[in-house]
Amino acid sequence: MSQRVKVKQILSDDKVQYDVTVKGWIRSFRNNQFIALNDGSTNNNLQIVIEPGTDAGLLKRLTTGAAISVTGEIIASLGKGQKVELKARELEVLGDCDPEKYPLQLKNRPSLEYLREIAHLRFRTNTFGAIFRVRHSLAFAVHQFFNERGFVYLHTPVITASDAEGAGEMFRVTTLDLNKPPRTESGDIDFKEDFFGRATNLTVSGQLEGELGAMAFGDIYTFGPTFRAENSNTARHLAEFWMIEPEMAFYDLEDNMNLAEAFIKYVIGYVLQHNREDLEFLAQRLAEEEKQKPQQERSEMGLLEKLEFVLNNEFMRLTYTEAIDILKNSKPNKSKKFNYLIEEWGADLQSEHERYLVEKHFKKPVILTDYPAAIKAFYMKQNEDGKTVRAMDILFPGIGEIVGGSQREENYDKLVKRMQELHLPTEELSWYLDTRRFGACPHAGFGLGFERLVLFVTGMGNIRDVIPFPRTPKSAEF
Ligand code: 4AD
Ligand code: MG
Repeated sequence: MSQRVKVKQILSDDKVQYDVTVKGWIRSFRNNQFIALNDGSTNNNLQIVIEPGTDAGLLKRLTTGAAISVTGEIIASLGKGQKVELKARELEVLGDCDPEKYPLQLKNRPSLEYLREIAHLRFRTNTFGAIFRVRHSLAFAVHQFFNERGFVYLHTPVITASDAEGAGEMFRVTTLDLNKPPRTESGDIDFKEDFFGRATNLTVSGQLEGELGAMAFGDIYTFGPTFRAENSNTARHLAEFWMIEPEMAFYDLEDNMNLAEAFIKYVIGYVLQHNREDLEFLAQRLAEEEKQKPQQERSEMGLLEKLEFVLNNEFMRLTYTEAIDILKNSKPNKSKKFNYLIEEWGADLQSEHERYLVEKHFKKPVILTDYPAAIKAFYMKQNEDGKTVRAMDILFPGIGEIVGGSQREENYDKLVKRMQELHLPTEELSWYLDTRRFGACPHAGFGLGFERLVLFVTGMGNIRDVIPFPRTPKSAEF
């Protein structure tokens, strides 16, 4: 038995006259002679040529979706579509696939919505193959970026009693005693809303725990699932999403912005270099989708151009107050996308305001700083003006907010005073307040929503399509 090789390797090596074994799933079988085999390593299929005289019973089982193992010789292809092909010597069907029932037939192209309902076969399409290989590479690049800079990857808890953002949109942890009948006499499920006697929830952010790490390791980052019980059915929100949260001792807001910008450019640069083929496929897909739109709504740049643009241009930096002035002086646009541009100082920016700034006014990523304290979390460093805090949000074209971060208030008294104003439990958060008691120092950090990054990089329109198993109010089956 010869060595098993991935299709991507065979196609990129471009060598001939050697023996291999390949395993994968049939994409198509034509003329009783040519199999297009996909093994998930690339969207490109390997052509397999079947010997004439192959058993008719075996040929019948070579249907789209079936899993097979093939051994033979890689030879130069006589056909046009590919340089090399595999001349089959041994062929085994490992798993049959009923062509009448298989949902992914070439004839009918399934919609993205339909594919979300068939999670396992969704992965077998070219679109999702490309998306999830790009997602993988982005995750790898995240670790590489921080590792190169000496950050420690800190695993923060999923179950916690703290509500880091003070936003109150949390999932409560409950316990169910399986030794008791699951239902009470009245038919209700018998569970307790606690974690061994304490109220806990699924984490909304690892930041507060991350700050503890930064006060010892200097630079840390978290990268894990976070949860928000926002019952919002938008194309930008998930109930479970992955967040990357670096936290750095001795950083101020400026250092924080510099790191965030360098980080985003690094991971985009990484996939441009390592995932060219998949990005080109997604760019093509997006270009076709754009053609369906009316002229004035079409994007000026293709996907690859957009990524190169972000990589090669400095992000625009301005304060919240400056942004409000721009919005006040802008004229409401007739198109629905950019309505209601007049804003008063103090209000939170709505997504149409963010999109106006990024897509119409500056036409590049924007970092907004120094937001009103009233619309930001308790832990942000207070400015001298008594009104604003050292916050930063990074806004991206087509996405809106991709990063939220700040310099933290390191002064114990100021922080406690702010928490009291907001009626936050200082006792319960004493483990956090201790970071301001024993060698406190200036520090800062940010959180990047990983799926929003994947959305931007893949050019997809809905956040549900860039996470393998989306958790939204309507989907949590598998
Ligand atoms: O702005 P947020 O709420 O900030 C924090 O959680 C801070 N503790 C981060 C920090 O300073 N360490 O969330 C950060 C980012 C947002 O900018 C957005 O990209 C993403 O997380 N995000 C979501 N992504 C998908 N679905 C949701 N429901 C999201 N909520 C936030
Ligand atoms: Mg935010």
